[in-house]
Amino acid sequence: MSVKINKLEIENVKRIKAIKIEPTASGLTIVGGNNNQGKTSVLDSIAWALGGDKYRPSDAQQQGSTIPPTLHIVMSNGLVVERKGKNSSLKVTDPEGNKAGQQLLNEFVEQLALDLPKFMESSGKEKAQTLLKIIGVGDQLAALDKNEQELYNRRLTIGQIADQKKKFADEQTYYPDAPKELVSPSELIKQQQEILARNGENEQKRKHAFELQAERNRLAEKVNNLKEELDRQTELLKKADQNMNIAFKSSEELQNESTAELEASISNIDEINRKVRANLDKDKAEEDALDYKNQYAALTKEIDDIRKNKTDLLNAADLPLDELSVKNGELTYKGQQWDNMSGSDRLKVSTAIVRKLNPECGFVLLDKLEQMDLNTLNEFGSWLEQEGLQAIATRVSTGGECSIIIDDGYVVSENETQSQQPTWKEGEF
Ligand SMILES: Nc1ncnc2c1ncn2[C@@H]1O[C@H](COP(=O)(O)OP(=O)(O)OP(=O)(O)O)[C@@H](O)[C@H]1O
Ligand SMILES: [Mg+2]
Repeated sequence: MSVKINKLEIENVKRIKAIKIEPTASGLTIVGGNNNQGKTSVLDSIAWALGGDKYRPSDAQQQGSTIPPTLHIVMSNGLVVERKGKNSSLKVTDPEGNKAGQQLLNEFVEQLALDLPKFMESSGKEKAQTLLKIIGVGDQLAALDKNEQELYNRRLTIGQIADQKKKFADEQTYYPDAPKELVSPSELIKQQQEILARNGENEQKRKHAFELQAERNRLAEKVNNLKEELDRQTELLKKADQNMNIAFKSSEELQNESTAELEASISNIDEINRKVRANLDKDKAEEDALDYKNQYAALTKEIDDIRKNKTDLLNAADLPLDELSVKNGELTYKGQQWDNMSGSDRLKVSTAIVRKLNPECGFVLLDKLEQMDLNTLNEFGSWLEQEGLQAIATRVSTGGECSIIIDDGYVVSENETQSQQPTWKEGEF
């Protein structure tokens, strides 16, 4: 059960002469009045009583009085908090009559509840950190943020390399007519050697034909010389003629193959290979570019996943207020950053966050509520009630929305219905 202020008596503090207030337990208690009548002095007094000497006003004693400041606060847990005497020293008494001190108060008094402007004036990042601390996901979110930043930087580098690689690949020349693989000269030389070998064999055969011719001639001469052997030799001659004719005939059918094409290829090989290498280089460059493009896409997916994790983390967290979130390390409410929130939304956001900082602390002090119109004030009051939170607020007004009205350091009017949280209409008072 969070601790609230049940009763409050202040005398001779700053602008206050003597006032007594019993704030409503849940919702708004508005201290109204014209300017300079002592409204803020009430809040300053509460802060001093509960927050310790660092909240002591510089000019604490009411100037027109010779009596030192006196503060008397009864808390809902039964503690009685007093400041009185020459030094306005603190006295804390528990329901059993035991004495206690500031340390006990600190357990349930949230410093920012006494000094909301301190929270409101903190930077956007500090506010976001406070919220993340409350909902307990600060460390996880910071780790995700770090991871995201690293991936983002990596992707940036990869993206630049991918662009360069693509540009480089595009600039390379390509020869669509060149073969896919490098041409080897040894295969062509082997083919050439085989043809030369076959041609050599042909040459042998031709030579043989000429040998047979020589033999025939020799025999013909022998026929002349050896008439007596004419018949026999004639027969031989006839045979030799036959052989000779066969040999010539088969030799006529022989055809030499050309090596011209191969010779051309061999002489062309360097040019072809230059083109093949160029094509291989371009293929590699394109593969490279594609690889980097794919890496970039993979990193984009990882970054998207992390962003989704962050959103999920915040969505799953127990936020003090609907539509309150953290985006890029900044607090947002209804999608707006702090500098874009209305004054009343800022108050609501601050109150909600401070409320969660120390759930033991059931109250918050709010100065200058005149920035809220009556509708917003009603809505804010209902929200406070629903949260079970007590707010003691000041407002430059003497209207019916005020719980009490202060004039010249005294309470001059009290709204009896204050504890039922009335709803007010514009111009009612
Ligand atoms: N010790 C003191 N004795 C008497 N008057 C004081 C003392 N300290 C401050 N004041 C005066 O109190 C007035 C401010 O009081 P306070 O801030 O409580 O008024 P307020 O009702 O909140 O005014 P506003 O509507 O302008 O916010 C100032 O005129 C200031 O000079
Ligand atoms: Mg004031």
